[in-house]
Amino acid sequence: MHLDGITKRFGSLTANDSITLGLVPGRIHCLLGENGAGKSTLMNILFGLLRADEGTISVGGNVLHLENPKQAMAAGIGMVHQHFMLIPVFTVAENMVLGREPGRFGKLDLNGARKLVRQLSDRYRLDVDPDALVEDLPVGIQQRVEILKALANDARYLIFDEPTAVLTPQEIDELMVVMRTLRDEGRAICFITHKLREVVAVADDITVIRRGKVVGEATPDASEGDLAELMVGRAVNLTVDKAPPTLGKERLVLTDFTVANAAGTIVVDHLNLTVSGGEIVCIAGVQGNGQTELAEALLGTMAVIHGTAILDGVDVTHMPPKKTIEAGLGFVPEDRQRDGFVGDFSIAENLVLNRTTSFSSVGNLDLGRIRSNADERIEEFDIRTSSQSQPVRSLSGGNQQKVVLARELSRPLSLLVANQPTRGVDVGAIEFLHNRIVKERDRDTAVLIVSTELEEVESLADRIAVMYRGRIVGVVEPDTPRDVLGLMMAGVPFEEAARSVEKSRTEHADV
Ligand SMILES: Nc1ncnc2c1ncn2[C@@H]1O[C@H](COP(=O)(O)OP(=O)(O)OP(=O)(O)O)[C@@H](O)[C@H]1O
Ligand SMILES: [Mg+2]
Repeated sequence: MHLDGITKRFGSLTANDSITLGLVPGRIHCLLGENGAGKSTLMNILFGLLRADEGTISVGGNVLHLENPKQAMAAGIGMVHQHFMLIPVFTVAENMVLGREPGRFGKLDLNGARKLVRQLSDRYRLDVDPDALVEDLPVGIQQRVEILKALANDARYLIFDEPTAVLTPQEIDELMVVMRTLRDEGRAICFITHKLREVVAVADDITVIRRGKVVGEATPDASEGDLAELMVGRAVNLTVDKAPPTLGKERLVLTDFTVANAAGTIVVDHLNLTVSGGEIVCIAGVQGNGQTELAEALLGTMAVIHGTAILDGVDVTHMPPKKTIEAGLGFVPEDRQRDGFVGDFSIAENLVLNRTTSFSSVGNLDLGRIRSNADERIEEFDIRTSSQSQPVRSLSGGNQQKVVLARELSRPLSLLVANQPTRGVDVGAIEFLHNRIVKERDRDTAVLIVSTELEEVESLADRIAVMYRGRIVGVVEPDTPRDVLGLMMAGVPFEEAARSVEKSRTEHADV
Protein backbone atom coordinates (compact mmCIF):
# COMPACT_ATOMS: atom_id res chain seq x y z
CA MET A 1 0.00 0.00 0.00
CA HIS A 2 1.29 3.42 -0.91
CA LEU A 3 0.37 6.76 0.55
CA ASP A 4 1.63 9.31 -1.88
CA GLY A 5 1.91 13.04 -1.29
CA ILE A 6 -0.88 13.16 1.31
CA THR A 7 -1.73 16.70 2.34
CA LYS A 8 -4.40 17.69 4.82
CA ARG A 9 -5.23 21.20 5.99
CA PHE A 10 -7.43 22.36 8.84
CA GLY A 11 -7.98 26.04 8.10
CA SER A 12 -4.55 27.65 8.11
CA LEU A 13 -2.87 24.62 9.67
CA THR A 14 -1.25 21.99 7.45
CA ALA A 15 -1.55 18.83 9.54
CA ASN A 16 -0.12 16.56 6.82
CA ASP A 17 2.26 18.08 4.33
CA SER A 18 2.81 15.86 1.30
CA ILE A 19 3.48 12.67 3.25
CA THR A 20 4.67 9.64 1.30
CA LEU A 21 4.77 6.28 3.04
CA GLY A 22 4.63 2.60 2.12
CA LEU A 23 3.03 -0.18 4.18
CA VAL A 24 4.41 -3.61 3.30
CA PRO A 25 2.71 -6.95 4.07
CA GLY A 26 4.61 -8.88 6.72
CA ARG A 27 6.20 -5.78 8.24
CA ILE A 28 5.53 -3.53 11.23
CA HIS A 29 5.95 0.10 10.28
CA CYS A 30 6.32 2.48 13.23
CA LEU A 31 5.16 6.01 12.77
CA LEU A 32 6.90 8.34 15.18
CA GLY A 33 6.43 12.02 15.80
CA GLU A 34 5.84 14.58 18.49
CA ASN A 35 2.37 15.52 19.75
CA GLY A 36 0.47 17.21 16.95
CA ALA A 37 2.89 16.00 14.26
CA GLY A 38 -0.03 14.65 12.23
CA LYS A 39 0.10 10.90 12.85
CA SER A 40 -3.54 10.36 13.80
CA THR A 41 -4.65 12.66 11.00
CA LEU A 42 -2.77 10.56 8.44
CA MET A 43 -4.22 7.33 9.83
CA ASN A 44 -7.72 8.80 9.91
CA ILE A 45 -7.33 9.58 6.22
CA LEU A 46 -6.19 6.03 5.54
CA PHE A 47 -9.24 4.72 7.41
CA GLY A 48 -11.65 6.96 5.51
CA LEU A 49 -12.54 9.14 8.49
CA LEU A 50 -10.98 12.24 6.93
CA ARG A 51 -10.54 13.22 3.29
CA ALA A 52 -7.07 14.30 2.10
CA ASP A 53 -6.84 17.62 0.27
CA GLU A 54 -4.14 16.21 -1.97
CA GLY A 55 -2.42 12.90 -2.60
CA THR A 56 -3.43 9.32 -3.25
CA ILE A 57 -3.65 6.00 -1.48
CA SER A 58 -3.10 2.97 -3.68
CA VAL A 59 -2.79 -0.79 -3.45
CA GLY A 60 -0.99 -2.63 -6.24
CA GLY A 61 -1.21 0.41 -8.48
CA ASN A 62 -4.97 0.84 -7.97
CA VAL A 63 -5.95 4.14 -6.42
CA LEU A 64 -8.44 3.78 -3.53
CA HIS A 65 -11.15 6.37 -3.06
CA LEU A 66 -12.00 6.09 0.60
CA GLU A 67 -15.06 8.12 1.51
CA ASN A 68 -15.76 6.45 4.85
CA PRO A 69 -14.55 3.68 7.18
CA LYS A 70 -16.91 1.17 5.58
CA GLN A 71 -15.09 1.57 2.29
CA ALA A 72 -11.74 1.39 4.07
CA MET A 73 -12.80 -1.86 5.76
CA ALA A 74 -13.95 -3.23 2.43
CA ALA A 75 -10.48 -2.41 1.10
CA GLY A 76 -8.96 -4.52 3.88
CA ILE A 77 -7.98 -1.72 6.24
CA GLY A 78 -8.64 -1.95 9.98
CA MET A 79 -7.94 0.57 12.72
CA VAL A 80 -7.50 0.49 16.48
CA HIS A 81 -8.08 4.07 17.57
CA GLN A 82 -6.17 6.27 19.99
CA HIS A 83 -9.46 7.16 21.63
CA PHE A 84 -11.72 4.14 21.78
CA MET A 85 -14.73 4.13 19.52
CA LEU A 86 -16.72 1.53 21.45
CA ILE A 87 -20.24 2.08 22.79
CA PRO A 88 -19.93 1.46 26.55
CA VAL A 89 -23.51 0.31 27.21
CA PHE A 90 -23.38 -2.35 24.47
CA THR A 91 -21.88 -5.80 24.78
CA VAL A 92 -18.71 -6.86 23.02
CA ALA A 93 -20.69 -8.74 20.38
CA GLU A 94 -23.03 -5.80 19.84
CA ASN A 95 -20.05 -3.52 19.34
CA MET A 96 -18.68 -5.96 16.79
CA VAL A 97 -21.75 -5.71 14.54
CA LEU A 98 -21.97 -1.92 14.76
CA GLY A 99 -21.18 -0.19 11.51
CA ARG A 100 -21.31 -3.45 9.59
CA GLU A 101 -23.87 -4.75 7.14
CA PRO A 102 -27.04 -6.28 8.63
CA GLY A 103 -27.18 -10.09 8.53
CA ARG A 104 -29.01 -12.17 6.00
CA PHE A 105 -32.40 -11.69 7.58
CA GLY A 106 -32.12 -7.95 7.77
CA LYS A 107 -31.29 -8.12 11.46
CA LEU A 108 -27.97 -7.57 13.14
CA ASP A 109 -26.34 -10.97 13.29
CA LEU A 110 -25.51 -11.15 16.99
CA ASN A 111 -24.99 -14.89 17.15
CA GLY A 112 -22.59 -14.70 14.27
CA ALA A 113 -20.75 -11.91 16.06
CA ARG A 114 -20.56 -13.98 19.25
CA LYS A 115 -19.08 -16.89 17.38
CA LEU A 116 -16.59 -14.67 15.65
CA VAL A 117 -15.45 -13.15 18.94
CA ARG A 118 -14.83 -16.63 20.30
CA GLN A 119 -12.97 -17.79 17.19
CA LEU A 120 -10.73 -14.76 17.00
CA SER A 121 -10.15 -14.76 20.78
CA ASP A 122 -8.93 -18.33 20.54
CA ARG A 123 -6.77 -17.77 17.52
CA TYR A 124 -4.94 -14.74 18.88
CA ARG A 125 -5.22 -15.65 22.56
CA LEU A 126 -7.20 -12.51 23.27
CA ASP A 127 -9.43 -13.67 26.05
CA VAL A 128 -12.67 -11.71 25.56
CA ASP A 129 -16.20 -12.60 26.66
CA PRO A 130 -18.61 -11.69 23.82
CA ASP A 131 -21.48 -11.03 26.23
CA ALA A 132 -19.66 -8.69 28.61
CA LEU A 133 -20.76 -5.07 28.66
CA VAL A 134 -17.95 -2.90 27.34
CA GLU A 135 -18.27 -0.42 30.22
CA ASP A 136 -17.56 -3.20 32.71
CA LEU A 137 -14.29 -4.17 31.04
CA PRO A 138 -10.88 -2.84 32.04
CA VAL A 139 -9.23 -0.70 29.35
CA GLY A 140 -6.83 -3.47 28.40
CA ILE A 141 -9.73 -5.72 27.43
CA GLN A 142 -11.58 -2.88 25.68
CA GLN A 143 -8.47 -2.51 23.59
CA ARG A 144 -8.75 -6.17 22.63
CA VAL A 145 -12.31 -5.57 21.53
CA GLU A 146 -11.03 -2.83 19.23
CA ILE A 147 -8.50 -5.27 17.84
CA LEU A 148 -11.16 -7.95 17.36
CA LYS A 149 -13.29 -5.43 15.50
CA ALA A 150 -10.43 -4.69 13.16
CA LEU A 151 -9.73 -8.40 12.68
CA ALA A 152 -13.37 -9.26 12.10
CA ASN A 153 -12.96 -8.05 8.54
CA ASP A 154 -9.76 -10.01 8.13
CA ALA A 155 -7.99 -6.68 7.55
CA ARG A 156 -4.75 -6.98 5.59
CA TYR A 157 -3.66 -3.52 6.71
CA LEU A 158 -3.88 -2.78 10.39
CA ILE A 159 -3.46 0.59 11.99
CA PHE A 160 -2.67 0.77 15.71
CA ASP A 161 -2.87 4.37 16.89
CA GLU A 162 -1.16 4.53 20.29
CA PRO A 163 -2.66 1.31 21.57
CA THR A 164 -0.20 1.00 24.43
CA ALA A 165 -0.79 4.39 26.07
CA VAL A 166 -3.47 2.94 28.33
CA LEU A 167 -2.07 -0.54 28.82
CA THR A 168 -0.19 -2.08 31.73
CA PRO A 169 3.34 -3.38 31.06
CA GLN A 170 1.99 -6.94 31.03
CA GLU A 171 -0.76 -6.04 28.55
CA ILE A 172 1.81 -4.29 26.38
CA ASP A 173 3.90 -7.45 26.20
CA GLU A 174 0.79 -9.41 25.22
CA LEU A 175 -0.08 -6.87 22.54
CA MET A 176 3.45 -7.09 21.11
CA VAL A 177 2.98 -10.85 20.76
CA VAL A 178 -0.34 -10.32 18.96
CA MET A 179 1.20 -7.74 16.64
CA ARG A 180 4.08 -10.05 15.76
CA THR A 181 1.63 -12.90 15.05
CA LEU A 182 -0.40 -10.65 12.78
CA ARG A 183 2.73 -9.54 10.98
CA ASP A 184 3.93 -13.12 10.53
CA GLU A 185 0.55 -13.94 8.97
CA GLY A 186 1.52 -11.46 6.28
CA ARG A 187 -0.47 -8.44 7.38
CA ALA A 188 0.95 -4.94 7.12
CA ILE A 189 0.93 -3.08 10.41
CA CYS A 190 1.26 0.62 11.05
CA PHE A 191 2.04 1.18 14.71
CA ILE A 192 2.04 4.54 16.49
CA THR A 193 3.57 4.89 19.94
CA HIS A 194 5.49 7.40 22.04
CA LYS A 195 7.30 4.67 23.92
CA LEU A 196 10.58 4.28 22.13
CA ARG A 197 11.33 1.00 23.88
CA GLU A 198 8.36 -0.53 22.03
CA VAL A 199 9.56 0.86 18.72
CA VAL A 200 12.98 -0.68 19.18
CA ALA A 201 11.29 -3.97 20.16
CA VAL A 202 8.91 -4.52 17.22
CA ALA A 203 9.64 -2.16 14.33
CA ASP A 204 10.74 -3.39 10.93
CA ASP A 205 10.53 0.10 9.43
CA ILE A 206 10.47 3.50 11.14
CA THR A 207 9.27 6.80 9.71
CA VAL A 208 9.46 10.02 11.68
CA ILE A 209 7.18 12.97 11.01
CA ARG A 210 7.42 16.46 12.45
CA ARG A 211 4.96 19.29 11.90
CA GLY A 212 3.21 17.35 9.18
CA LYS A 213 6.29 16.41 7.15
CA VAL A 214 8.36 13.24 6.90
CA VAL A 215 11.70 14.24 8.41
CA GLY A 216 13.50 10.95 8.41
CA GLU A 217 13.60 7.22 8.49
CA ALA A 218 15.39 5.00 10.94
CA THR A 219 16.29 1.33 11.24
CA PRO A 220 15.24 -0.80 14.22
CA ASP A 221 18.80 -0.82 15.55
CA ALA A 222 18.57 2.92 16.27
CA SER A 223 18.97 3.83 19.93
CA GLU A 224 16.13 5.39 21.91
CA GLY A 225 18.18 8.58 22.17
CA ASP A 226 18.61 8.78 18.39
CA LEU A 227 14.89 8.25 17.84
CA ALA A 228 14.02 10.90 20.42
CA GLU A 229 16.28 13.38 18.70
CA LEU A 230 14.83 12.60 15.27
CA MET A 231 11.34 13.10 16.69
CA VAL A 232 11.71 16.43 18.39
CA GLY A 233 14.69 17.83 16.52
CA ARG A 234 16.96 18.20 19.54
CA ALA A 235 18.67 16.00 22.09
CA VAL A 236 16.25 14.89 24.81
CA ASN A 237 17.24 14.14 28.37
CA LEU A 238 15.43 10.89 29.07
CA THR A 239 16.13 11.07 32.81
CA VAL A 240 15.10 13.80 35.26
CA ASP A 241 17.77 15.98 36.90
CA LYS A 242 16.59 16.86 40.34
CA ALA A 243 18.12 17.93 43.62
CA PRO A 244 17.35 15.96 46.80
CA PRO A 245 14.05 17.10 48.28
CA THR A 246 13.87 19.78 50.96
CA LEU A 247 11.08 18.51 53.15
CA GLY A 248 8.57 21.03 54.43
CA LYS A 249 5.76 20.36 56.85
CA GLU A 250 3.42 17.39 56.51
CA ARG A 251 0.71 18.54 54.13
CA LEU A 252 -1.39 15.48 53.29
CA VAL A 253 -2.07 13.02 56.07
CA LEU A 254 -4.15 9.94 55.31
CA THR A 255 -5.23 7.85 58.27
CA ASP A 256 -7.08 4.55 57.86
CA PHE A 257 -8.32 5.99 54.60
CA THR A 258 -10.92 3.58 53.24
CA VAL A 259 -12.84 3.89 50.00
CA ALA A 260 -15.68 1.82 48.57
CA ASN A 261 -16.78 1.69 44.93
CA ALA A 262 -20.35 1.97 43.70
CA ALA A 263 -20.91 -1.74 44.33
CA GLY A 264 -19.81 -1.31 47.95
CA THR A 265 -16.54 -3.20 47.52
CA ILE A 266 -13.62 -1.82 49.49
CA VAL A 267 -11.01 -0.64 46.99
CA VAL A 268 -8.75 1.42 49.26
CA ASP A 269 -8.27 -0.40 52.51
CA HIS A 270 -7.26 1.41 55.73
CA LEU A 271 -4.47 3.21 54.00
CA ASN A 272 -1.98 5.32 55.93
CA LEU A 273 0.27 7.73 54.08
CA THR A 274 1.79 11.14 54.65
CA VAL A 275 3.08 13.46 51.95
CA SER A 276 5.10 16.50 52.98
CA GLY A 277 5.55 19.75 51.15
CA GLY A 278 8.59 19.55 48.90
CA GLU A 279 8.47 15.85 48.16
CA ILE A 280 7.18 13.64 45.39
CA VAL A 281 5.61 10.38 46.47
CA CYS A 282 4.85 8.00 43.61
CA ILE A 283 2.31 5.25 43.95
CA ALA A 284 3.51 2.23 42.04
CA GLY A 285 1.43 -0.84 41.45
CA VAL A 286 -0.29 -3.04 38.93
CA GLN A 287 -3.27 -1.17 37.55
CA GLY A 288 -6.49 -1.96 39.40
CA ASN A 289 -5.09 -2.10 42.93
CA GLY A 290 -6.94 0.96 44.15
CA GLN A 291 -4.59 3.69 42.90
CA THR A 292 -7.19 5.45 40.77
CA GLU A 293 -9.81 5.19 43.49
CA LEU A 294 -7.39 6.66 46.01
CA ALA A 295 -6.81 9.63 43.71
CA GLU A 296 -10.51 10.10 43.01
CA ALA A 297 -11.43 9.87 46.67
CA LEU A 298 -8.93 12.63 47.41
CA LEU A 299 -10.61 14.76 44.77
CA GLY A 300 -14.00 13.90 46.26
CA THR A 301 -15.65 11.82 43.56
CA MET A 302 -15.61 8.53 45.48
CA ALA A 303 -17.08 7.59 48.82
CA VAL A 304 -14.72 7.53 51.78
CA ILE A 305 -16.31 5.12 54.23
CA HIS A 306 -13.73 5.21 56.98
CA GLY A 307 -10.71 7.20 58.08
CA THR A 308 -9.60 10.72 57.27
CA ALA A 309 -7.74 12.87 54.78
CA ILE A 310 -6.23 16.01 56.28
CA LEU A 311 -4.80 18.66 53.97
CA ASP A 312 -2.85 21.46 55.63
CA GLY A 313 -4.68 20.78 58.87
CA VAL A 314 -8.13 20.87 57.29
CA ASP A 315 -10.33 17.79 57.14
CA VAL A 316 -11.05 17.24 53.43
CA THR A 317 -12.28 13.65 53.79
CA HIS A 318 -15.82 14.24 52.58
CA MET A 319 -15.41 17.44 50.63
CA PRO A 320 -16.88 17.62 47.13
CA PRO A 321 -14.45 18.32 44.26
CA LYS A 322 -15.24 22.02 44.10
CA LYS A 323 -14.14 22.41 47.71
CA THR A 324 -11.02 20.24 47.54
CA ILE A 325 -9.90 22.24 44.52
CA GLU A 326 -10.48 25.44 46.48
CA ALA A 327 -8.51 23.92 49.33
CA GLY A 328 -5.48 23.77 47.03
CA LEU A 329 -5.73 20.42 45.28
CA GLY A 330 -4.45 20.19 41.71
CA PHE A 331 -5.83 17.10 40.00
CA VAL A 332 -4.86 15.29 36.81
CA PRO A 333 -7.36 12.50 36.10
CA GLU A 334 -6.46 9.16 34.60
CA ASP A 335 -8.90 9.54 31.72
CA ARG A 336 -8.54 13.02 30.25
CA GLN A 337 -11.37 12.58 27.78
CA ARG A 338 -13.87 11.66 30.46
CA ASP A 339 -12.76 13.81 33.38
CA GLY A 340 -10.07 16.19 32.20
CA PHE A 341 -11.81 18.76 30.04
CA VAL A 342 -14.94 19.74 28.18
CA GLY A 343 -14.19 18.78 24.59
CA ASP A 344 -16.44 21.29 22.90
CA PHE A 345 -15.06 24.19 24.92
CA SER A 346 -12.07 26.12 23.65
CA ILE A 347 -8.54 25.74 24.96
CA ALA A 348 -8.84 29.13 26.64
CA GLU A 349 -12.04 28.12 28.44
CA ASN A 350 -10.67 24.76 29.49
CA LEU A 351 -7.58 26.40 30.94
CA VAL A 352 -9.73 28.20 33.54
CA LEU A 353 -12.43 25.56 33.85
CA ASN A 354 -12.30 24.91 37.59
CA ARG A 355 -11.47 28.42 38.74
CA THR A 356 -13.62 30.83 36.86
CA THR A 357 -14.01 32.93 40.02
CA SER A 358 -10.36 33.95 39.83
CA PHE A 359 -11.00 35.06 36.26
CA SER A 360 -14.03 37.17 37.05
CA SER A 361 -14.52 40.70 38.18
CA VAL A 362 -17.78 41.86 39.70
CA GLY A 363 -19.45 38.61 38.69
CA ASN A 364 -18.47 38.77 35.03
CA LEU A 365 -15.86 36.63 33.34
CA ASP A 366 -12.82 38.73 32.50
CA LEU A 367 -12.37 37.65 28.89
CA GLY A 368 -9.19 39.66 28.43
CA ARG A 369 -7.48 37.84 31.28
CA ILE A 370 -8.78 34.47 30.11
CA ARG A 371 -7.25 35.19 26.71
CA SER A 372 -3.90 36.34 28.03
CA ASN A 373 -3.76 33.37 30.41
CA ALA A 374 -4.35 31.07 27.42
CA ASP A 375 -1.57 32.70 25.42
CA GLU A 376 0.85 32.24 28.31
CA ARG A 377 -0.08 28.62 29.01
CA ILE A 378 0.03 27.67 25.31
CA GLU A 379 3.50 29.15 25.08
CA GLU A 380 4.80 27.68 28.34
CA PHE A 381 3.45 24.17 27.80
CA ASP A 382 4.06 24.18 24.05
CA ILE A 383 0.45 23.28 23.26
CA ARG A 384 0.34 22.79 19.49
CA THR A 385 -2.70 24.59 18.18
CA SER A 386 -3.62 27.07 15.51
CA SER A 387 -5.70 29.19 17.88
CA GLN A 388 -6.66 29.38 21.56
CA SER A 389 -10.30 29.24 20.52
CA GLN A 390 -9.86 25.76 18.99
CA PRO A 391 -12.09 23.23 20.80
CA VAL A 392 -9.96 20.87 22.88
CA ARG A 393 -11.66 17.90 21.22
CA SER A 394 -9.85 18.64 17.96
CA LEU A 395 -6.40 18.87 19.55
CA SER A 396 -4.07 15.91 19.18
CA GLY A 397 -4.17 13.46 22.10
CA GLY A 398 -0.91 14.56 23.67
CA ASN A 399 -1.85 18.21 23.38
CA GLN A 400 -5.15 17.55 25.15
CA GLN A 401 -3.12 16.11 28.01
CA LYS A 402 -0.91 19.20 28.05
CA VAL A 403 -4.02 21.40 28.41
CA VAL A 404 -5.03 19.51 31.57
CA LEU A 405 -1.54 19.78 33.08
CA ALA A 406 -1.20 23.42 32.11
CA ARG A 407 -4.46 24.23 33.90
CA GLU A 408 -3.64 22.28 37.05
CA LEU A 409 -0.06 23.52 37.31
CA SER A 410 -0.81 27.18 36.92
CA ARG A 411 -2.27 28.13 40.27
CA PRO A 412 -0.94 27.93 43.81
CA LEU A 413 -1.29 24.36 45.09
CA SER A 414 -0.92 22.63 48.43
CA LEU A 415 -1.21 19.19 46.90
CA LEU A 416 -0.87 17.90 43.36
CA VAL A 417 -2.46 14.51 42.65
CA ALA A 418 -1.62 13.35 39.14
CA ASN A 419 -2.76 10.03 37.74
CA GLN A 420 -0.68 8.92 34.73
CA PRO A 421 0.41 12.53 34.15
CA THR A 422 2.28 11.95 30.90
CA ARG A 423 -0.07 9.52 29.21
CA GLY A 424 0.11 9.97 25.43
CA VAL A 425 2.70 12.72 25.68
CA ASP A 426 5.83 12.70 23.48
CA VAL A 427 9.37 12.34 24.87
CA GLY A 428 10.18 16.02 24.52
CA ALA A 429 7.03 17.04 26.38
CA ILE A 430 7.63 14.37 29.05
CA GLU A 431 11.02 15.96 29.73
CA PHE A 432 9.32 19.34 30.13
CA LEU A 433 6.43 18.05 32.26
CA HIS A 434 8.68 16.07 34.58
CA ASN A 435 10.82 19.14 35.17
CA ARG A 436 7.68 21.18 35.71
CA ILE A 437 6.43 18.69 38.34
CA VAL A 438 9.78 18.86 40.13
CA LYS A 439 9.50 22.65 40.07
CA GLU A 440 6.09 22.34 41.70
CA ARG A 441 7.66 20.16 44.39
CA ASP A 442 10.36 22.76 44.95
CA ARG A 443 7.65 25.32 45.64
CA ASP A 444 6.82 23.27 48.73
CA THR A 445 3.80 21.55 47.17
CA ALA A 446 3.11 17.98 48.26
CA VAL A 447 3.10 15.85 45.11
CA LEU A 448 1.39 12.48 44.78
CA ILE A 449 1.86 10.73 41.43
CA VAL A 450 0.11 7.55 40.33
CA SER A 451 1.87 5.86 37.48
CA THR A 452 2.06 2.38 36.01
CA GLU A 453 5.25 3.40 34.17
CA LEU A 454 8.12 2.26 36.36
CA GLU A 455 10.50 4.52 34.47
CA GLU A 456 8.36 7.50 35.36
CA VAL A 457 8.14 6.43 38.98
CA GLU A 458 11.90 5.96 39.24
CA SER A 459 12.71 9.29 37.69
CA LEU A 460 10.20 11.38 39.65
CA ALA A 461 9.88 9.75 43.05
CA ASP A 462 11.52 10.87 46.26
CA ARG A 463 9.72 7.95 47.87
CA ILE A 464 7.83 5.08 46.24
CA ALA A 465 4.70 3.72 47.90
CA VAL A 466 3.78 0.34 46.45
CA MET A 467 0.08 -0.38 46.42
CA TYR A 468 -1.49 -3.81 46.33
CA ARG A 469 -5.15 -4.67 46.84
CA GLY A 470 -5.98 -1.27 48.25
CA ARG A 471 -3.15 -1.20 50.75
CA ILE A 472 0.36 0.19 50.83
CA VAL A 473 2.70 -2.81 50.87
CA GLY A 474 5.66 -0.61 51.71
CA VAL A 475 7.26 2.75 51.15
CA VAL A 476 10.73 2.47 49.65
CA GLU A 477 13.60 4.49 48.20
CA PRO A 478 13.47 5.44 44.50
CA ASP A 479 16.58 3.37 43.73
CA THR A 480 14.94 0.14 44.91
CA PRO A 481 15.74 -2.53 42.29
CA ARG A 482 12.96 -3.28 39.83
CA ASP A 483 12.75 -6.96 40.71
CA VAL A 484 12.16 -6.01 44.34
CA LEU A 485 9.48 -3.52 43.29
CA GLY A 486 7.97 -6.19 41.06
CA LEU A 487 7.61 -8.59 43.98
CA MET A 488 6.17 -5.86 46.18
CA MET A 489 3.64 -5.08 43.46
CA ALA A 490 2.51 -8.69 43.87
CA GLY A 491 2.00 -8.11 47.58
CA VAL A 492 5.34 -9.25 49.02
CA PRO A 493 6.60 -6.99 51.85
CA PHE A 494 9.89 -5.16 51.23
CA GLU A 495 12.18 -7.18 53.49
CA GLU A 496 10.96 -10.49 52.17
CA ALA A 497 11.15 -9.22 48.57
CA ALA A 498 14.69 -7.93 49.06
CA ARG A 499 15.75 -11.22 50.67
CA SER A 500 14.29 -13.34 47.93
CA VAL A 501 15.88 -11.22 45.18
CA GLU A 502 19.21 -11.36 47.01
CA LYS A 503 18.90 -15.12 47.34
CA SER A 504 18.17 -15.70 43.68
CA ARG A 505 21.10 -13.42 42.76
CA THR A 506 23.58 -15.41 44.85
CA GLU A 507 22.19 -18.67 43.49
CA HIS A 508 22.72 -17.42 39.94
CA ALA A 509 26.19 -16.19 40.86
CA ASP A 510 27.06 -19.70 42.09
CA VAL A 511 26.23 -21.38 38.81
N1 LIG B 1 -10.73 18.46 13.33
C1 LIG B 1 -9.67 19.25 13.46
N2 LIG B 1 -9.78 20.59 13.40
C2 LIG B 1 -8.71 21.39 13.53
N3 LIG B 1 -7.47 20.94 13.75
C3 LIG B 1 -7.29 19.63 13.84
C4 LIG B 1 -8.36 18.70 13.71
N4 LIG B 1 -7.88 17.45 13.84
C5 LIG B 1 -6.56 17.58 14.06
N5 LIG B 1 -6.20 18.88 14.05
C6 LIG B 1 -4.83 19.41 14.22
O1 LIG B 1 -3.94 18.70 13.39
C7 LIG B 1 -2.67 18.55 14.01
C8 LIG B 1 -2.25 17.11 13.96
O2 LIG B 1 -3.02 16.38 14.90
P1 LIG B 1 -2.89 14.80 15.07
O3 LIG B 1 -3.99 14.38 15.95
O4 LIG B 1 -2.79 14.17 13.74
O5 LIG B 1 -1.49 14.69 15.84
P2 LIG B 1 -0.74 13.38 16.36
O6 LIG B 1 0.55 13.28 15.62
O7 LIG B 1 -1.62 12.21 16.29
O8 LIG B 1 -0.39 13.80 17.87
P3 LIG B 1 -0.49 12.95 19.28
O9 LIG B 1 0.82 12.26 19.42
O10 LIG B 1 -0.59 14.02 20.31
O11 LIG B 1 -1.65 12.06 19.22
C9 LIG B 1 -2.82 19.11 15.41
O12 LIG B 1 -2.26 20.39 15.44
C10 LIG B 1 -4.33 19.18 15.63
O13 LIG B 1 -4.67 20.24 16.48
MG1 LIG C 1 -2.55 11.03 17.75
